[in-house]
Amino acid sequence: GPFYLGVDVGGTNIKVGVVDSQAHSLSHVSLPTQPKLGPEVGLRTICEASRMAIEQSQLDISEIHAVGLATPGTMDIPKGLLLDPPNLPGWTNLPLRDQLSEALGLPTTLQNDANAAAYGEFWGGMARDATSLVFFTLGTGIGCGIIIGDTIVEGAHSHGAECGHIIIEMNNGRLCPTGQYGTLEAYASAKSVVKRCREALDDGRESSITAELDKGEKLTPLLISRMCDAGDELAEELIMQTARYLGVGTTTLMHTINPEMVLFGGAMTFGRNETELGRRFLQEIRNEVKKRAFPVPAEKTQIEYASLGGDAGYIGAAGCARLKFP
Ligand code: BGC
Ligand code: NA
Repeated sequence: GPFYLGVDVGGTNIKVGVVDSQAHSLSHVSLPTQPKLGPEVGLRTICEASRMAIEQSQLDISEIHAVGLATPGTMDIPKGLLLDPPNLPGWTNLPLRDQLSEALGLPTTLQNDANAAAYGEFWGGMARDATSLVFFTLGTGIGCGIIIGDTIVEGAHSHGAECGHIIIEMNNGRLCPTGQYGTLEAYASAKSVVKRCREALDDGRESSITAELDKGEKLTPLLISRMCDAGDELAEELIMQTARYLGVGTTTLMHTINPEMVLFGGAMTFGRNETELGRRFLQEIRNEVKKRAFPVPAEKTQIEYASLGGDAGYIGAAGCARLKFP
């Protein structure tokens, strides 16, 4: 069958791969985004990564049927415009879909990064056999994608499934990078975990994290998870609290969609099922859901980790191109 190119543009890396019509990846290239150098350099880097990915797949560009582009933040999907992506400052009102299409000479689709990753898991990953899916990606921000039937929920204005921005705290809520208060992202993103940790330490909370910082370590979710593994109480509290916030957000989605499956992917999943912390983190999300949601769907919905890891975005983006250009 035809081959597709998937492009996943993040704040840190641009990942590109060639994908066949069965969701198998034939190649995978990652180059730094360097968003501050502006969208022109960005477009050139995407093209460079695309050429490399096609070469690596040992196909010719004439064998690529279409390109799927995935980017973070608000967008106008029908027009192919990036509106104001949070981690790509200055990439505003950018007709990136058509620019890329022209540069590569191939039909191109645009999709939200988390929507694309959700579709990747649905098409060829953990949700392969599900008929509906809510997918959360946990990183610097919190992304979400919703699939119902074979349809990606884009909404009337391309802002469907922006569930990192559902409000979980209406009074004195934490500030989100969007300027809103009390969003799920403001409580459960990688940035927020670090911020909540910093506040606790500034409040005089005792923790073995302090000694690590004194040694010159940077305060990151990875450091917090390491300290949690070493038995630090504050680290444990911060991570399990994050899981409970996610459980609250998940409950809202379960009462809205009643999906067959809810998946968590992204960097802040603590090694997923491979580590004890990863398993406990997921279990804490499930426990919170059981406390908050109706018995059904709480008992029936499968809440799991995603399986495609960092490949979900470009594989899903390629899948989106396939939906539009079969
Ligand atoms: C944005 C989403 C994006 C997510 C992950 C959020 O802050 O609003 O559009 O999917 O970050 O990149
Ligand atoms: Na989304």
